[in-house]
Parts: sequence; C-alpha cells; structure tokens
Amino acid sequence: MSSIETKSRVFSGVRANARPHVGNYLGAIKGMVELQDKFDCIFSVVDLHTVLVPYDPKTLQQSIRDVVLDYLGAGLDPKKCHITIQSHLAAEHLELAYYLGCVYPVSRIEDLPTYKEKKAQYPDYINVGLLYYPILMAADILLYNAELVPIGIDNEPHLEVAREMARKFNGMYGTKLVEPKRYATTGGSVPSLVGEGKMSKSKGGTIILTDSLEEIKAVLAKAVTDSGQGDKFPETGPAANLVTFVELFEGHDKAQQYRSMYKESGIRYGDLKAELAEAIYKELQPIQEKRKYFEEHPEEVDKILADGKEYAQKIARETLEEVRQKMGLV
Ligand code: TYM
Repeated sequence: MSSIETKSRVFSGVRANARPHVGNYLGAIKGMVELQDKFDCIFSVVDLHTVLVPYDPKTLQQSIRDVVLDYLGAGLDPKKCHITIQSHLAAEHLELAYYLGCVYPVSRIEDLPTYKEKKAQYPDYINVGLLYYPILMAADILLYNAELVPIGIDNEPHLEVAREMARKFNGMYGTKLVEPKRYATTGGSVPSLVGEGKMSKSKGGTIILTDSLEEIKAVLAKAVTDSGQGDKFPETGPAANLVTFVELFEGHDKAQQYRSMYKESGIRYGDLKAELAEAIYKELQPIQEKRKYFEEHPEEVDKILADGKEYAQKIARETLEEVRQKMGLV
C-alpha cells in the first residue's frame, strides 16, 4: 500500500459522455501528462458527471473504459500518477459535494454559462442533478486539496466556483480546503471545425483519439472554409479556426505562413487540410499504439484502477474526517 505523497497535488477529470476528442486531449489530457512528473496527480473518469445529462446505461461501462484507455494511450503513467473512476469513490465525492452544496447559493449556479448551455441543450432534462454539476466538480478537486487543475478555458468559471466554495466553507467552519488554480494547457480552447466556439462532444465534427488517417481526413473534408483570401487575416471564423489547428499541430511558423498566404496568394484549403490531417495523425498514432497494448491487457488496467482507488480513498477519507469534525457532525 503506497503512502500519501507530500508533493503538491493535481486533480483533473474527463466525462464519459462521448469518446475524448483532440479538444479534450490538448485542453486537458496533455496537461495531465505534463504534470505527472512533478506533482502528486489523481486523474479521474468523472462518470457521476456523465449521468447528469441523458446517456445510455448499456454502453456506460464501455465509455468509461474508453476514457481510461485514452488516458493510458496518451501517456498517463500509472507509476507516476493515480487513475480513478469517480463512481468507485461515490460515497466520498458525493458526501463532500452535499456539504459544499449546503453553503452555496443556487443563484450563483444558475448564472454559470455551462448550466445555461446544458439547459438549452436538454430543455426536457433540467433536473436537480444539473445544479450539482459545478458543486460535484468542486468536491472532486477540494476532496484531494488539489492546487492545480489541468483543464480547458471553458472550465475556468467552474474553478472560480470551487475557489469561492473553499473560501466560504473555510470561513464558516475553519477548515483548510485549498483554493485550486487552472494549469494552462497548450490548447486551452480548441476550436470547432463545424461551427462557432470550441470543439465539443455535442456539436459533432470531432476528431477522436482513435481516428485513422482516413477518418481524420473525412472530418477535415467537412470542416467549414471561406474564400481563403482577404485584406486582413480574420480573428474568428473558418480560416481562423483551421489555422489555429495548424498552429496546434504543425507549429507557429507554419501557421504564420498561412496567415500571410491569406493576404497574398490565398489559402488552398485542400492542401492545408491534407497536411493538417497528416500532422494530426502523426500525434495520434503513438497514442493509438500504446492504447492498443492496454486494450489487450485488461487485467493490468483493472489493477491500475484498483490501486488508484485505494490511494485516492485514503486522501478523501482524511479530508472528510476533518470536514465532519469541523462541521460538528462527529
Ligand atoms: P469534459 O469531459 O466535458 O471535458 C474534459 C476536458 O476537456 C476540456 N475541453 C476542451 N479543451 C480545449 N478545447 C476544447 N474544445 C475542449 N473541449 C473540452 C475541458 O475543459 C475539460 O478540461 N467539467 C469537466 C469534468 C470535470 C472535472 C472535474 C475536471 C468534473 N469534475 C474536476 C477537472 C476537475 C469537463 O468539462 O469534462
């Protein structure tokens, strides 16, 4: 049984609603891989967050497993970090979430962009659980006193909630819950290829981590384009989005070439997409190979998850013990 590390702690999680895409990878998972060398890291598949919106119970276990395999494929190393399934620690995560929810105003949650988005997306499914999304997320992080959280920019408002909750709770009960900060990842906001805003599981047009070169080409073929030419390189829209992808996968110089090309000869999107597809595949191929190894060794994966649970539970129980005492519950 490993003892609790004294290094600063990191926590992050990915939901299992759909297969992780390159937005999740660049916005979160790659950051997790970067941090595992220096910090005491716990990375979770947050399946209690998955069931807050409509989902298919029949495929949930496979979806959870797919996220774990993507984590391992992307380079999370069980010798350097701990991987957990949130529901394996449901008692701990939900207990803290309940206490935090007791001190936090409903109106603040209703104001959050994600709550409004989810309400718009599932108008017939506006359940109490949805209000618990940010509360449970705060509990996930505060339970482990994590200082750093590698997540996309879209999640910054949730982190602000977690900080507010920690302050309020500490002020009321004299606990020492740590206020977490976002670790800025390389692709904090990977754009959508098919519309406005960021790439998202619900909008489609996503490149998932197991896509073949042909599948990547097919997604890029459908990516929206413009005329490819103009006086000024646009800050938003199809050209900006595709060139952001170039920047993320082929580097700054290549992206600058396209920005100049836009103002001169014009961008030929067929060429851009062909090169970009190759570059994305080059990044994903080693992930797919490593993932395949773990897919073929399920017993190793089960052991990793059992160890992760055991480690995380020790920390979670210590936090809860202190919280219950300070709240006068014991
Ligand atoms: P999820 O599964 O929706 O997203 C997982 C991570 O991917 C990031 N992300 C992106 N980053 C850049 N560009 C994009 N297009 C893009 N799309 C998604 C998200 O910011 C996120 O970091 N709320 C979390 C789940 C969660 C969590 C936690 C995270 C629950 N509890 C505790 C950290 C700590 C989420 O959005 O999952």
